[in-house]
Amino acid sequence: MRVLGIESSCDETAAAVVDDSGRVLSDVVHSQVKLHARYGGIIPELASRDHLRNIEPVITEALARASTTVAQLDGIAVTHRPGLVGALLVGVQAAKGLAWGAGKPLVGVDHLVGHLLAVFLQREKTLIETPRFPFVCLLASGGHTALYRVGSPKLDDITELGATRDDAAGEAFDKVGKLLDLGYPGGPKIDRLAKTGNADRHAFTVPMAAKRSLEFSFSGIKTQVASHIDRHGKPGSEGELADLCASFQRAVVTSLTRKLFAAAAEENVNDVVIGGGVAANRELRETVLLEARKRGLRAFLPDLASCTDNAAMIAYAGLRAIERGETHSWDLAATSRTALARSTRKGRGAR
Ligand code: KG4
Ligand code: ZN
Repeated sequence: MRVLGIESSCDETAAAVVDDSGRVLSDVVHSQVKLHARYGGIIPELASRDHLRNIEPVITEALARASTTVAQLDGIAVTHRPGLVGALLVGVQAAKGLAWGAGKPLVGVDHLVGHLLAVFLQREKTLIETPRFPFVCLLASGGHTALYRVGSPKLDDITELGATRDDAAGEAFDKVGKLLDLGYPGGPKIDRLAKTGNADRHAFTVPMAAKRSLEFSFSGIKTQVASHIDRHGKPGSEGELADLCASFQRAVVTSLTRKLFAAAAEENVNDVVIGGGVAANRELRETVLLEARKRGLRAFLPDLASCTDNAAMIAYAGLRAIERGETHSWDLAATSRTALARSTRKGRGAR
């Protein structure tokens, strides 16, 4: 089986072709980061227009790189939730047009399910080992941070165990990046700077560390960094900047890791997985591997290209749905909310 995936939920226009072993036959990502950089965040209307400009060339390139035509596909998968509705619509309409024209099955994929299953993508020649269901997955991205028990690739078998009460982890990285004039997105830059910094230099408190619950909170740590800057000014040297980044990152990673392993213990699973843009973070990856080894658990980390937004994860989730016969009709709609039920009642804000 071969499925084309299309992703346009936020600021990446992406298309990819994946087969039923999870092999990524092509993976094209057009990032809008430069377009939005000067505004310090994503401008929805600019995102939609840029998706419109790029969707067709991105899809054409993905098919060409996979040496596949639409006629050879077994279906077309598209992110239809959650995200910016105007942005999602561009991908959804493109997918409908292609599927209708070629008489292929259409399947709408929840972006979060894409992230949860991204660990199954195979990007190397030799197949790598993948987790066994059920597993616990920490999904940490720019818009969402939550823990899930993943019983199978089916939406109904995915349960949220706890989520952030306020900001997402990636959002905290981006806000702190902005405070430190690092530009958008801050995550990769903080990650790089933290490598040479001293994480013990500043005692930022770990959000909700004392709580037994599996909920997170990240807005407080951003405030701690902001008040540090208010009191002491912005870092005066590269060394000071690195120390601040390292201390902030340590607090976030500690919180994410603690809750991931608390969830694994509570759910009594053997396999833990991470996903989403923040799963590309070097310290998070190292800590998860280390802590898993200590506990005799197996940790699975997606390739870096599978962590940040991409269409291969959408194609894969769609392929598994098509295999189960779960396709959508032509009235598939784009919506800003995830289909995954919330378990965290307290708090509002980005999920
Ligand atoms: O999954 P993603 O590409 O988009 C969403 O669905 O949100 O995640 C983007 C987020 C951004 O907040 C970005 O700063 C963060 O992931 N990110 C990182 C790293 N790479 C990307 N955060 C920490 N360390 C990284 N290496
Ligand atoms: Zn994402």
